[in-house]
Amino acid sequence: MKVGVFDSGIGGLTVVKSLLDHQLFEEIIYYGDTARVPYGIKDKNTIIRYGLEAVEFFKNFELGLIIVACNTVSAYALAEMREISSCPIYGVVKAGALATSNSLSDKNSNILVLGTNATIKSKAYELELNKLGFTNLQIKATGLFVPLVEEEIYNGEILDATFKHYFKDIKIPRAIILGCTHFPLISEAISNYFGEDVQLIHSGDAIVEYLESEFNFNKKYKNPELKFFASESPDALKTIAKKWLNY
Ligand code: DGL
Repeated sequence: MKVGVFDSGIGGLTVVKSLLDHQLFEEIIYYGDTARVPYGIKDKNTIIRYGLEAVEFFKNFELGLIIVACNTVSAYALAEMREISSCPIYGVVKAGALATSNSLSDKNSNILVLGTNATIKSKAYELELNKLGFTNLQIKATGLFVPLVEEEIYNGEILDATFKHYFKDIKIPRAIILGCTHFPLISEAISNYFGEDVQLIHSGDAIVEYLESEFNFNKKYKNPELKFFASESPDALKTIAKKWLNY
């Protein structure tokens, strides 16, 4: 199957990494809206409009499936995008909530949800987690992590200070949903801060788990064809993809 992966920028490559690790697809077409990133500080209507434009972009390819790697778009625009799409569209929010639920047997477990300002404001994760019976939640918008990761700051003083700023009132949770494409890149630092026992939920692995429960993948693709597109500086995106994905 040929899959399209959409993100506001480069962060969705963390989801592509999971797709590659699991060898699910024959061809992956990535589109990052690098000209207009970040989406996480934009309003609902803008995020929906950008999501619809991404569906139009993908109409140039015969896709079997579109994955919205961006949590912010997944939180706001899936219904509208599905209306104009000829192939199914899956987002990472429901997948992340399901992966959390699959890994925690105790519904009283405390879950910390991290995301962009827009994702947190949408309450999309809360809604999905509540549906699954989880109500013991701590919710925190941690938008500053996005530019830090873009600057390739994955540890050190500035990140530590940002952790203190955001997490000073946070109690140690049982699990943390990394509800933003960029956050897996600082997962090690987050783990060091909260301790190894705290489970981290990664959007990429969550969407793989979800797709494997929905589709029958009976073939593995070791060397899928990868195509990268960006609304600005596509060469920069390709360079980062080579680095992050090691291909
Ligand atoms: N891709 C976005 C997300 O996962 C993070 C970057 C942005 O704000 O656009 O929410």
